[in-house]
Amino acid sequence: MTNYPSMDKEIFLPAEQFFEQTKPTGLTFDDISLATRYSDVLPSKANLETKLTDQLSLNLPILSSDMDTVTESEMAIAMALCGGMGLIHYNMSQRQQLKEVARVKYHVHGLIQDPITITADKLVGDVLKLIDSKDFQFRTFPIVKEDGKLLGLLPGRVVKHRYRSRKVTEGMLARDEVYTVKQSDIGGDPIETADRFFSDHMGIHKLLVVDNDDKLCGLYTLSDIERIMGEAGNHLKPARDDNFRLLCGAAISIPRTENGQIDKNDLLRHVGEMVEKGVNLVAVSTAHGHTAGVGKATKILSQEFNQLSIMAGNVTSGEGVEFLADAGAQIIKVGQGPGSICTTRIVAGVGIPQMSALYAASVKAKAKGVSIVADGGLSKSGDIVKALTQADGVICGSLLAGCREAPGRIIEIEGKYYKQYRGMGSLEAMRDGSAARYGHSTKDVGSKSTAEGIEALKEVAGDVTETINLLSGGIRSGMGYLGAKNLSQLKSNARFVRVTPAGQRESSPHDVIEIKNSEFSRS
Ligand code: XMP
Repeated sequence: MTNYPSMDKEIFLPAEQFFEQTKPTGLTFDDISLATRYSDVLPSKANLETKLTDQLSLNLPILSSDMDTVTESEMAIAMALCGGMGLIHYNMSQRQQLKEVARVKYHVHGLIQDPITITADKLVGDVLKLIDSKDFQFRTFPIVKEDGKLLGLLPGRVVKHRYRSRKVTEGMLARDEVYTVKQSDIGGDPIETADRFFSDHMGIHKLLVVDNDDKLCGLYTLSDIERIMGEAGNHLKPARDDNFRLLCGAAISIPRTENGQIDKNDLLRHVGEMVEKGVNLVAVSTAHGHTAGVGKATKILSQEFNQLSIMAGNVTSGEGVEFLADAGAQIIKVGQGPGSICTTRIVAGVGIPQMSALYAASVKAKAKGVSIVADGGLSKSGDIVKALTQADGVICGSLLAGCREAPGRIIEIEGKYYKQYRGMGSLEAMRDGSAARYGHSTKDVGSKSTAEGIEALKEVAGDVTETINLLSGGIRSGMGYLGAKNLSQLKSNARFVRVTPAGQRESSPHDVIEIKNSEFSRS
């Protein structure tokens, strides 16, 4: 009996010893398991916050992947509302990507500080065209004079095709009928002020903010305020910036000139425009990040945008982490070939099983003071717990690709519904623009280049919130078992054992006939 504590220390090893002893074998999630530790942590009380950079913290350590069948604005909004963040993919024009970022950043404002306005000379038809061209999801607009002073409010109920040739001033509520609050009277808690106003003024949905000269400088809407107040009781706290805007990330490929040089002007212009829209993180996202091009592009961005969080990747070695950290990346994406739709290891014979890659990367990341995120291969919440013993966050593709908010068509096959999910290195995705991610040009696709990803289907899942609730519940359980109040304790409390094929079989349901699948497939 007295030997047990020391036996524990020999069997259940901390990462440094464990990976030291298993080298040079590359291990992935199913090759290992975590030992339980003494705990006084209730899973529901575990804190999932993660600090990725000095400017960027998330309430949930999950990012949605920068893939064209995973993250556009709808997914990014849903992810940020759950406390994580979406990385908008780049298989679209720069203009479109800017629009997607703007949609996230303008999604729910407590106070919209720069409301879209119209001038008195416009017709209702002009407003309809504006809504259409900008894809606005709202129809009520303040009307201002040329000097910015408030003239009235055009209510959504008159923004109709039948009134298209009428002047907006004919249908507007005049200045003295519009509810306003002076900017100087808002006080320290803008949301509380608006919430009180809407409770006191039954049926009113808009409150405009004006300065001392009656110039319009803000707008509250009842639906935004209700959503924000509703979030207060939600255990998934949205990830917002200092202006109450949802956090948003965007991936970029490296633009090149005709002669193959990095097009610095184009790179800086596009990222600069996204920064102006409020993007919080830009990821230089490629299949091979330990390369001259990624290093140079990262350096250009980190020198120009010192308030922006910069992510770069992907790498799977300590050297790769050091290289990108020296180039100015604060977050490094780790993963080559673990993804569910990846064929890099088959096609190129390259890649490192993900847990070993994460360990190698984490050692250097600690030394360089940067964060790492585990990208790819996560098929169940337990994998995320294991990844978070080494990484500061995870990037999910397949776990989110079936959700309602993921882009992509729904296909029915024999009464079951699926969504398309494809690798960014699949032929079709590369033809649509992602070839540069794999070091090819779009015109070489199918001739000088071989696909490194497949096209697949995911069974349709519910809303992102449902999936995230399951995943975060699993992370919380893992933290409870390891006695970890927060993610930093998860790292320090983690003790590893090697799992044999028999152990893997034991980890999944066995010797029974399963009548209901669990939410996540178990391999
Ligand atoms: P999961 O396992 O979450 O992985 O589906 C998503 C991650 O896989 C990477 N990715 C690819 N890797 N060929 C690859 O080798 C591809 O075509 C491909 N597409 C995506 C990417 O890092 C993503 O986040």
